[in-house]
Amino acid sequence: MKFFPAQTYIDRRAKLKSDVNSGLILLMGNNEAPINYPDNHFRFRQDSSFLYFFGLNQFGLNAIIDTESGEEIIFGNEFSVEDIVWVGQQETIAAKAAQVGISDVRPSSKIASILSAAKSKGRDVHFLPPYRFDNKLQLMEWLNLGANEITPSVSTKLVNAVINLRSYKSAEEITEMTHAVNISREMHINAMRTIAAGKKEYEVVSEIYRTAKANNCYLAYPAILSINGQTLHNHGHYNTMTGNRLVLNDSGAENEMCYSGDITRTAPVSGKFSDKQKEIYNIVLEMEESSIAALKAGIMNRDLHIDANKLMLRRLKELGLVSGNTDELAEQGMGGLFMPHGLGHQIGMDVHDMEDLGETLVGYGEGLTRSTQLGLKSLRLAKKLEAGFVITVEPGLYFIPELIEQWKADKMFAEHINYDKLKDYYDFGGIRIEDDILITENGHQILGDKIPKTIEEVENAMAN
Ligand code: GLY
Repeated sequence: MKFFPAQTYIDRRAKLKSDVNSGLILLMGNNEAPINYPDNHFRFRQDSSFLYFFGLNQFGLNAIIDTESGEEIIFGNEFSVEDIVWVGQQETIAAKAAQVGISDVRPSSKIASILSAAKSKGRDVHFLPPYRFDNKLQLMEWLNLGANEITPSVSTKLVNAVINLRSYKSAEEITEMTHAVNISREMHINAMRTIAAGKKEYEVVSEIYRTAKANNCYLAYPAILSINGQTLHNHGHYNTMTGNRLVLNDSGAENEMCYSGDITRTAPVSGKFSDKQKEIYNIVLEMEESSIAALKAGIMNRDLHIDANKLMLRRLKELGLVSGNTDELAEQGMGGLFMPHGLGHQIGMDVHDMEDLGETLVGYGEGLTRSTQLGLKSLRLAKKLEAGFVITVEPGLYFIPELIEQWKADKMFAEHINYDKLKDYYDFGGIRIEDDILITENGHQILGDKIPKTIEEVENAMAN
């Protein structure tokens, strides 16, 4: 198990304690999650906030911070000899806890009485929104709450305090994230080299997983890879790649410290982009590069999303696919037909960082309301960017026949969308290009080494 220096966790907990400043903070770790019976479980993934404050990547742990006495306790059961017979000798929880600055480790059975004593004395017990059912049930039992009482009892104070800490990535986190992006880069380059007409998509996916595993990483989310790039989150990989199609690959590594990369590239099956593909590809590339160029602290990400839509519609007008005042039409939401998702989101230990704490709280903050327009409504990060945020920039341009047909039938922007000409693109698929970027006071830094991105770079990577 790999840790940051103990002082990192000690400092994080001290800040959390002073920000919350009342009662107990309960941070729940995750348990193993069965696939089809308890002993056959999904890959274990620790809760990211638990990892952030307590660092122990192990199932069956919970922790309490007493903001008044200052006590910090990890609860968990040490392996018995019988456990060791099955899983081998393990470092004790106490030994691991010492590496994150915790000297007080108690058996799991001891937590209930501490929580109920706090409750009976009328002390606050702060907890985060549970997203796993076993943790919900556990909370109901410990805090004597009904199922419907969990959500209203979540501590907004704790949620905001955690968001306030985890949003700003430290230098040591940036090192980890850069590592995750560099492994993601290798996954993408190996995927580009594997793409070939006649092969199945899953053959490319297997190369992505192999590259991750060969570098002691997992995937941060199931690979999205398809010749049907117009399907935004396509997790089926059964198609045969054919000569005239594009392959959209959205995949990223999660490294040993559980930091994520989230990268998308789109490549032609044949190894060479056709002229028609180049036209659309270069629009997306320009959207991505101009959005990144504008990144710095103080910019509203919502504005960047709308600017990217304006640029896209301006270029589609040059191709004769749309007409009219494209800036106004972008404000009215016409871009949603071609990019029905947001420009990006925060990334960190979670690929959609802190989304379990509430997407709107994390990405909008106070005073910003979510749009109902297709595309803009899916923007996960709308608020002002601040130094220390790491975000994705991931514009795309898709031709989704079902959506186009629906808009046509509904006479959406009927005067300004050339529905007849769009028929020529029904078998085009979609293009997305994505990088992970650190926001700095005066600008930004794209994480990791350069990943082939221009048409020439992608074609060269495929040829090698
Ligand atoms: N890369 C997958 C996502 O952002 O949802």
